[in-house]
Amino acid sequence: MRKRILKLLVSADDFVSGEQISDELNISRAAVWKHIKAIKEEGGVIEAHTKRGYHLVSLPDVLKPEYVGFWAHTRPERIHWMHEVDSTNEHAKRLAREGAPDGSVYIAELQTKGKGRLERGWISEAGASIMMSVLLRPGFAPPKAPAVTFAAALGVVRAIKRICGADAGIKWPNDVVFEGKKLCGILTEMSTDMDRVEYIVCGMGLNVNQKKFPEEVAEKASSVRLITGKKVDRVKLCAAMIDEVFLCCERYVAEGIDAIFDEYCANSVIIGKEIKVLAGEDSVLGVCSGFTKQGALMLDVGGETKTFLAGEVSVRGMKEYI
Ligand code: BTN
Repeated sequence: MRKRILKLLVSADDFVSGEQISDELNISRAAVWKHIKAIKEEGGVIEAHTKRGYHLVSLPDVLKPEYVGFWAHTRPERIHWMHEVDSTNEHAKRLAREGAPDGSVYIAELQTKGKGRLERGWISEAGASIMMSVLLRPGFAPPKAPAVTFAAALGVVRAIKRICGADAGIKWPNDVVFEGKKLCGILTEMSTDMDRVEYIVCGMGLNVNQKKFPEEVAEKASSVRLITGKKVDRVKLCAAMIDEVFLCCERYVAEGIDAIFDEYCANSVIIGKEIKVLAGEDSVLGVCSGFTKQGALMLDVGGETKTFLAGEVSVRGMKEYI
């Protein structure tokens, strides 16, 4: 019902009377008022006028399904919101073990034990970022799993472009960056046997409206707001992110890597660049010559091509590798 009221308010350029809403949706005026009050309590701005009715100025800045689902094509019943959780990835894995369906999305405003790659933590300002995990049950063999991160990264880049007009890029394997600074980290985890992946959880942490970062990461991190100079509509960006990530993942699962490979490469910020790859204890310098269709990085080291299925990349900057 909340979504239908919002639809009426959004589609009207002007005020909509309480009577019109109650007639069209067949609910009492008191029920209309209850929803309006709830939207306002969550931070939505709605002007109320005794004679003219209600005028929606802005939606609440909360990533609940009733708001995100308003803009997303993905079914809102697949979208789950929590104010606080340990980690959306851990939460998604717990529910996956209990049989949660393919295509579920778990979003939190705050994580108390956010996880990064390589056993690192992930700390993010509550209400300023988008932290979400999507659950996929692609039913394919384990070697196909790493490229899911390709699809997710591409989805994030597309969403940032569509909603905010900014050209972010992808730093293999799983960072979305802008001018050398990280905007989004992706952590993909899976449960599998030898033949078939049971489920994949792909978690994304996107810095959206942060105005500054703690000193220790300020050199390396940025937010969509900082790169565009404008406060971002988190709800619209989150809806676009869900749609684009699903679109890219679904195409990859249905049609294979060729469906997304060229676009991924076109958005890579490391192809043709001098980079340093850190893989376990080893660190190798070379020029990135592209990626294999399994998701591995190809590094040209003095004319010889080395491939890396996992690792961390730093790009040669003005002074050093950052
Ligand atoms: C990285 O760059 O190291 C990956 C960071 C991934 C962070 C996201 S936030 C949402 C999801 N839940 C987590 O605990 N981690 C991922």
